Amino acid sequence: EKAGFEHFMMKEIHEQPKAVQDTLNSVIKDGRIDFEAVGITEDEIKGFEQIYIVACGSAWHVGMAAQYVLEDMADISVRVELASEFRYRKMSLNPKALMIVVSQSGETADTLAALRLAKEKGITTMAIVNVVGSSIAREADKVFYTLAGPEISVATTKAYSAQLAAMYCLAVQFAKVRGKITEEQYGYYIAELLTIPEKIQKILEDKERLQWFAAKYANASDVFFVGRGIDYAVCLEGSLKLKEISYIHSEAYAAGELKHGTISLIEQGTLVIGVLTQNELYEKTISNMLECKSRGAYLMGMTTYGNYEIEDQVNFAVYVPKVDEHFMASLAVIPLQLLGYYVSVAKGLDVDKPRNLAKSVTVE
Ligand code: M6R
Repeated sequence: EKAGFEHFMMKEIHEQPKAVQDTLNSVIKDGRIDFEAVGITEDEIKGFEQIYIVACGSAWHVGMAAQYVLEDMADISVRVELASEFRYRKMSLNPKALMIVVSQSGETADTLAALRLAKEKGITTMAIVNVVGSSIAREADKVFYTLAGPEISVATTKAYSAQLAAMYCLAVQFAKVRGKITEEQYGYYIAELLTIPEKIQKILEDKERLQWFAAKYANASDVFFVGRGIDYAVCLEGSLKLKEISYIHSEAYAAGELKHGTISLIEQGTLVIGVLTQNELYEKTISNMLECKSRGAYLMGMTTYGNYEIEDQVNFAVYVPKVDEHFMASLAVIPLQLLGYYVSVAKGLDVDKPRNLAKSVTVE
């Protein structure tokens, strides 16, 4: 049942090219995005004044990454909220908004409650959900199924990747329908999206390097993940993967925030992992990382092939292929999933069933 892998998590990590491919193929037909199955019309897409994205855990991290893509590409205001906060908060909600809830299981109690709340207020709801027939799938006005297949490991990997793919399709289609991108850009973005599966595959073929690094850092007590923009969203997910299955304390910081407090935690040998996939932000993030290095930090830096100057700046460099920068989270997350996995294995922990956690959180 684990298809020759030692754990479900590693099996599911390897199923990501297919999960992304299947999800993209479900809406991309002849080089165009078709949302008939999702049930959302062009008129509806044109009419939304605001998007709310509400979810928990890794699904919330998908929202954090998607907000940058949606706002930049489709020029629509996006607000991302944790479901457990959203539901108890008096927010002034725009009735002409689209609320997107994201959930693998479709049964997360807080996400479901947030969905019901939005419906009560007459807001159009859409679920990005993996389990067919789940409560969230049944109750949302529109359903965009991620085709990741059953996910067993508590730590999500392929569902996260499929959710990101779904979000990208929404962003590209919103941008096109709302007149924010040309026909040519539309074709370019769709072509870029379709390259993601093979690029994930390529990263997976290089996984031994991460295994070596994980063994070296398995005894770390604290790890800091830093990045800006989409890279910050990837850091949130990388940090959760690590702490969830390896029990190492870790935190994700928007790189510019380090000097507002966190840098006082940097000591000799503290591991700082930087994600640097966004060209315009590269210099800013690397300079924050170097400030940590001069205080004793050991730096791992992840960037795209070609940025080889990073070798002179960090102690350990990891490269991922390039895709249009809006979609980089899909590639940058893979080495971080592998890192979490290998640290957990190196420590002899129960990778698929970490302590105190359940696959689906159906209580508040
Ligand atoms: O089933 P859901 O996507 O609604 O679950 C949300 C979170 O509980 C989930 O993403 C959790 O954070 C994962 N264990 C992270 O790996």
